[in-house]
Amino acid sequence: MLPTIAWQGEEIVMVDQRKLPAAEIYVTCKSVNDIAKAIKTMVIRGAPAIGVCAAMGLALGAARSKATGTKQFTTEFQRNCDLLAATRPTAVNLFWAIERMKRAFSDGALAGESVDQLKARLRTEADRLHDDDVASCRAIGAHGAALVPQEATILTHCNAGALATAGYGTALGVIRGAVEAGKKVCVLADETRPFLQGARLTAWELVKDGIDTTVITDNMAGSIMRQGDIDLVVVGADRIAANGDFANKIGTYPVAVLAKEHGIPFYVAAPWSTIDLSTRDGDAIPIEERDPREVTHVGSNQLAPEGAHIRNPSFDVTPNKYITAIITERGVHRAPFIESLADAGSGH
Ligand code: MRU
Repeated sequence: MLPTIAWQGEEIVMVDQRKLPAAEIYVTCKSVNDIAKAIKTMVIRGAPAIGVCAAMGLALGAARSKATGTKQFTTEFQRNCDLLAATRPTAVNLFWAIERMKRAFSDGALAGESVDQLKARLRTEADRLHDDDVASCRAIGAHGAALVPQEATILTHCNAGALATAGYGTALGVIRGAVEAGKKVCVLADETRPFLQGARLTAWELVKDGIDTTVITDNMAGSIMRQGDIDLVVVGADRIAANGDFANKIGTYPVAVLAKEHGIPFYVAAPWSTIDLSTRDGDAIPIEERDPREVTHVGSNQLAPEGAHIRNPSFDVTPNKYITAIITERGVHRAPFIESLADAGSGH
């Protein structure tokens, strides 16, 4: 499995996803500031991976603290939480992971633990969060594999793979699960302008796994669907609202509309940490606007002229009516999502 992010002694190492596939370079983070920068600049990206990275960053920040008393240690921890929460707004996994770390901290503080005990507790919680994410992806893969025909061409958008999680992937977890179940799968990877996560990252990790992969530009999907050459679509998500509306990489919404028009099943695969029952629908999901340079340039090559206005919303919202099913580690959830998600969320 690909090493998305890992401890190396007291430091955190991650593959630089901005550089793939041309170069496999690893970035070492020695402080919580390094971690915040890595998330903001997309060294690491993908909703579950961002959450895991933030949790590990909080454990790293705590381990590096020179505080001798719990008062100062608590102030630093809170500041680190705020720093990480300000990195990327759309992926709810980031806020979910920070909340989980805050809960671990307050459990320890309430039990009267020392600074060293709190440090150990945060490290344990971050490790658990990392391992839970891999386990969730594997369960998503197993549930999703059952939905894939014995022979299938599957379209995916962006990268919801091992690189976007602690390992194995969500949408690509479904694909890996189907392949492991002996199904004959061909993958069509949308290139995913502007950051090209599909062409660069999805194709890289699938080819590495020996899975048949074809890269297409984003504007080819409709025509290929009309020719009858796509059996199903599976994508990841950055935030799924209580009613099933979800935010994912810009360009997901048109794929969903096209799939419905052509009668092609459209699945969303995500861990439960992506479900945000406190957000009622897609209109309430904050959408990140990123640097215009991602649109005007590819690498150092300028595509658009100086003086042109640029828009760069990084995510779009797909209304629930386009979704065939949402696949989480808790099972396969179908419409009405307001009920199926609430049911799956109760008792946890
Ligand atoms: O901007 P990114 O690369 O972080 O966006 C990633 C996506 O939109 C993914 O599809 C989503 O996070 C799901 S990852 C399992």
